[in-house]
Amino acid sequence: MTDNCGRVIDYLRISVTDLCNLRCDYCMPAEGIAKRKHSDIMRVEEILDVAEAAVGLGIRKIRITGGEPLLRRGLLDIISGIAELGIDDLALTTNGILLSELAAPLKSAGLNRINISLDTLNPDMFKNITRGGELQNVLDGIAAAKSTGLTPIKLNCVLMRGVNDNEIEAFADLSERLDVDLRFIELMPIGQAKSLWRERYLSNDAVVQRLGLKNGIQRGVAMQYGRIGLIDPVSRAFCGSCNRIRLTADGCIKPCLHSEGEISIRNLRDEELTYALKLAIQAKPVSHRGLTNEAPSDSARSMDRIGG
Ligand code: 5AD
Ligand code: SF4
Repeated sequence: MTDNCGRVIDYLRISVTDLCNLRCDYCMPAEGIAKRKHSDIMRVEEILDVAEAAVGLGIRKIRITGGEPLLRRGLLDIISGIAELGIDDLALTTNGILLSELAAPLKSAGLNRINISLDTLNPDMFKNITRGGELQNVLDGIAAAKSTGLTPIKLNCVLMRGVNDNEIEAFADLSERLDVDLRFIELMPIGQAKSLWRERYLSNDAVVQRLGLKNGIQRGVAMQYGRIGLIDPVSRAFCGSCNRIRLTADGCIKPCLHSEGEISIRNLRDEELTYALKLAIQAKPVSHRGLTNEAPSDSARSMDRIGG
């Protein structure tokens, strides 16, 4: 389906839970978030109904996100239900902590490929950023995803000044060594990251310079340099090539990551559901505001409640 600005919307991101087994300091408060009532979260069948209606409107690519999606009960049923819809691409973004056990069942359920969030290769820094996580679990998860064939694997690294900007080369080496794609993402002033943003934000130009990258080509929202991609939401707003809408775990469609507007589709069925999805696509703004310290994201939700 085409939106009001002529953008083809063919990509849906589905957050299946707000819960997470890490507490990354730029994403979640130290104490975590209040657990929602079970009934506030979309049931498996409800999620599948939305996916089916979205596919009917031309969605060809779906990504499962969280919180941390591998914590969701019924995840494999969600994956296999979506796989049956016969779309071009079914992917998932995870922090990798539980991936070594789940890679094979995910693949069998019909998942095509996986993105793994990893911001540092230093075990102590990993503990700091995630407030207690074990890097080795993620590395084991990457190995399991590779051997199961959940490929191409993509590592997502949020670049942060004074935190991991000394690891740019190490990440590039790892991507070569493990034969996985790598993406550096600029830190966005949204939710928990608003208070850290001024101190930590670093433009992806630092990656271009440090790795001597040349001849980037724009692919979707990324600038691609071979197997290294840069996502520059702050320094190079890419709203013009935005192709996506998002479904939150509590049943709202977010037409734009950084805008306040949401449309609840909870309890809608059949034509009503399709109609609400159409409205959400038409409600996509041309672009969001600045994304700076002075004008941070207008999103009413933090990232753990959107899923990136
Ligand atoms: N800016 C950029 N990326 C973020 N993520 C979480 N919060 C932010 C932020 N403020 C990333 C996570 C994960 C993905 C789902 O979103 O690191 O890779
Ligand atoms: Fe969890 Fe991802 Fe947020 Fe880290 S960034 S706390 S892994 S949801």
